[in-house]
This record gives sequence, C-alpha cells and structure tokens, in this order.
Amino acid sequence: MSDTTVMLPEGGEGVLNNVFSPYADYFIDMIGQRNTHIATEPVGIYESQVKHYICQDYFDHEQKELWKKIPQFIAPIQTLEKIGDFITVDYQGRVPMIVSKVDDNHCAVFENVCPHRGARLEHNKEGCKKAFVCPYHSWSFSHQGHLIAARWREAFPEIPDQYRSLNSINVQQRFSMLWQMPGEPNPDFSLEHWFSAIDEQISDIGFEQHQLLNSRERMINANWKLLIENFIEYYHVQSLHRNSLAPTLNGQLYSLDSFAQHGRILTPLKNLAQVRQQTPHKTRREMVATYLLFPNVIIGVQPYHVFVSFYHPVSVNQTWSKTFNFIHKADEGISEVCQLDVEYLAEALEEDYEAIEQVQRNLETCTAPSLLYGEAESLIGQLHRNLAAILHQSGKEANRA
Ligand code: FES
Ligand SMILES: [Fe+2]
Repeated sequence: MSDTTVMLPEGGEGVLNNVFSPYADYFIDMIGQRNTHIATEPVGIYESQVKHYICQDYFDHEQKELWKKIPQFIAPIQTLEKIGDFITVDYQGRVPMIVSKVDDNHCAVFENVCPHRGARLEHNKEGCKKAFVCPYHSWSFSHQGHLIAARWREAFPEIPDQYRSLNSINVQQRFSMLWQMPGEPNPDFSLEHWFSAIDEQISDIGFEQHQLLNSRERMINANWKLLIENFIEYYHVQSLHRNSLAPTLNGQLYSLDSFAQHGRILTPLKNLAQVRQQTPHKTRREMVATYLLFPNVIIGVQPYHVFVSFYHPVSVNQTWSKTFNFIHKADEGISEVCQLDVEYLAEALEEDYEAIEQVQRNLETCTAPSLLYGEAESLIGQLHRNLAAILHQSGKEANRA
C-alpha cells in the first residue's frame, strides 16, 4: 500500500480517513491489475454445526455462558444533552430501561420498573424530567433514581431500602454508546481492554460528531448468529443483492481483518479510482467499512451515513434488532443525500432478512449436520472460534463447531 499525501479532509468527508486512504490506493492498484481479491489470512475452510442455530440446549448454554460474561450494547447517547434528559429503551427479551442524564458527563440506566409493585414507570420514549411519577400509585423518583415521595406515606410504617430506589444497571460509556457491564462479577473485566484492539478505529469514526437521524426496530425469525454472519461477509452481495447493492459496490475486492475478537471488512465502490484521482479528499464517499464489535453489534460506515445495529437473541430462532442511523454534523446541508443512503441500505437489508429467515426454516427441517464457509467468509470462522473460546469448548471442537 502506498502512502498518499492529501490534505486531511474535515467533517463528514474525513470520517475514517486514516483507515480508508491507504486501502483506497491498494484497491485501485488491484483494480488496475484487473484482480479479484480477498485480503485475508489463509485460514482454509470452516464448518459450523447446524445444531448451533436450532438447538434449545445450545441457546440456553449461550444465555448462561456467553451473554452474562460480555458487555451488552444499550443505546447511543447523542439525544441526551441536558441534565434530566431521558430515553426509554425497550428490547424484547430484556428488562425495559430508562437512560437518564444525571450530570454533565454521565448517564445512569435504571430498570423502568417501579419498585412498589412493578408497574412501568415511564411511558414516553424520550423527554426531560426532574422526576418520574409512577402511573399506578404515584410514587415519584428523581432523575437519579431515588424515591422522592410515596403517596399516602402514613400507610407505610416503613419503606425498606430496596424500595427506595430504582434498580440500577451497571453501565459504562464508550464511543458515545452505553454498554451494560457483564452480569457475572469479574474484577478483571474492563471495557477499555475489551475494545482495545479496535478502539482507535471506532473512535476515529467520531460518533460525538454525529447526530441521530432515525432508528428502526425489527424482529427477525432467525438465530442471532445467522444475522451477524450475514454482515461479516460480502460474498453474498453479487448474488443476493444483484439488483440493489451490486450495481454500486465493486463486489470483487475486499479486505477482511480481525482485531482481537472484533472484525472489519473494507470494500471499494465502483467509482473509487475516479473519485480518488479527481477529489482525493472525498475517498470516504466511495468506500464502505463494516465493523463487528464482538459478538452482536455491527457498525457500518457508509458513504453518507454511519449505522449501529445490534442483534439481541430473544429465542433460538428469534432475534430482535435495532438500527440507529447517524449523519455527521458537517453533512447536515446534504441530509437529503444521507437520507437516501439510509433508505438504499434499508432496502438491501430486507433482502438479507428474507433470505436469512428462509435459511433458519431450512436448518430446522433439513438433515445436513453442518454448513461450509470459504476464505471470503473468514470472519465467520473467526466469530465462531471466539464464541467457542468463551463457551469453553476445546480448539478442535471449536473449529468443527
Ligand atoms: S407500582 Fe408504582 S406506585 Fe405503585
Ligand atoms: Fe446483505
């Protein structure tokens, strides 16, 4: 890869410039040589067992051994600006949450459940409040989660401590997102260490410079791993998305890279060489990066927007997804283009979901014991090996798992 001396672009055009720029030259070289190329470690083929997508015991094993040991995505915090701002977060299969801005630098997350008798405390999606008042019997709680008043206080000779505050969820902030800390106490765990191998790149996206454009939720009738697998390979683009993405994506060139347990795919769009020559500072508009934040969060850096999607397992064959779409604040003037970029991708995503739901149905009835992945799908083998390491399987089993 050669070095490029271009003026560092600012604003939306400069997102991930340090990552995109050297790869742009590399891809252009490959295009010049008319090469089809997948840059990846030579890892060989990989096989994964069908039972891992359809078996209740395996799903239970993941619930017990995986999700409690890793940080879980909660929400981006771009909409929480002033003290007292809040959002409510509802993900099927998880406790409803309130995210509340408690001081200039911190957000707290509480279960959106009244400790008196379990009613939902806050019904609005977002707002700004000094106090949350429960609609059932009107107990009120401060935006820091403490009981302010219980109506008809004399009826309670005492209120034990556990009823005096909302159940708080242990969270930390990274990349302008809130992450729930592992449920199992682990003094050695740190979010800093968990993201260390990929921290610089995700920080370079500059989420604090982005604003939330919209968000979308969807239940997909498929195992969560099938959805993640779909995002971390572009091998399917030329076939499944032949009429949607394929006309603009190069589709023959990509780089697959691992950063500890996380992963990244980079790929050029068809006009990259032309744009690089005429307006090198606009390289970002002709490249795409997809990141996997292990194991179930996808970040996509698209030409005119950035998205964060997370896939939450509800049951062995149901996954709840939420996608947050962002645009760079400097791209506000071209927000219509950004909006089109979002819609264009959303349509392609429906093609994915339809195909994946069909795969799930097939896996539930077919007799095949395993599935096959080639080197263009190398990040998938990597994902399964990293999952297996947490699920305590031996390396050999993991490779076949
Ligand atoms: S359940 Fe909330 S005040 Fe009674
Ligand atoms: Fe796709």
